[in-house]
Amino acid sequence: MGHLSACATITVRRMEPRDVPDVAAIERVAFVSGWPATAFERELQENKIARYVVLERTLCDSAPAIVAFGGLWLQLDEAHVVTVAVRREHRRVGYGLVVVRALLDLARAEGMQVATLEVRLSNEAARRLYRRCGFHEVGERKRYYADNGEDAIIMTTEEFDSPGFQRHYSRLDEAIAARFASLRSTVV
Ligand SMILES: CC(C)(COP(=O)(O)OP(=O)(O)OC[C@H]1O[C@@H](n2cnc3c(N)ncnc32)[C@H](O)[C@@H]1OP(=O)(O)O)[C@@H](O)C(=O)NCCC(=O)NCCS
Repeated sequence: MGHLSACATITVRRMEPRDVPDVAAIERVAFVSGWPATAFERELQENKIARYVVLERTLCDSAPAIVAFGGLWLQLDEAHVVTVAVRREHRRVGYGLVVVRALLDLARAEGMQVATLEVRLSNEAARRLYRRCGFHEVGERKRYYADNGEDAIIMTTEEFDSPGFQRHYSRLDEAIAARFASLRSTVV
């Protein structure tokens, strides 16, 4: 597990149009068939059901730098996690946990009841991250990804109000608190 140096702070906030170049740079490295910057711009400006967050890390006296982001779509009472990505040099620190928790907080604040997502069968890192965040695997979509014909695994949370979800959420909260004393969040 990585760690954060003593004078670092991290902040989760809503993504803004000015963040798109940094986000698109993370996207290019994280995904083989990633979105171009224009897709993020459209999401922020035109897609009323979309909500995106960025995680910024500030090291001592330096300027904040975006190291991770995530997004979801609000579909009736279901939040669909569209994407989560962490800058390669900053993986396994816990930023993925922080971003997914922020998305869950946003979803609940928007009145959603559950969260769902699709993830590539081969993406063991993401599948484990989502399990840590209270998602479980409920099915698959064969040959879902057009670029290589890979299957998607469908994952979902229990209902946000259920004791099962609350238990997962408390564990997630504890894991995050143990790693990041300096976390600030302005997403909800
Ligand atoms: C998947 C991804 C978002 C994980 O982000 P991250 O910040 O490295 O994840 P975290 O440090 O918060 O890890 C949380 C937990 O997830 C699991 N996990 C994360 N990366 C893992 C890996 N490479 N191998 C195995 N488990 C992993 C572990 O259980 C980990 O907890 P631990 O470190 O205490 O063992 C990151 O690898 C990434 O950006 N990948 C490319 C983009 C992508 O695939 N996004 C998801 C699909 S939309």
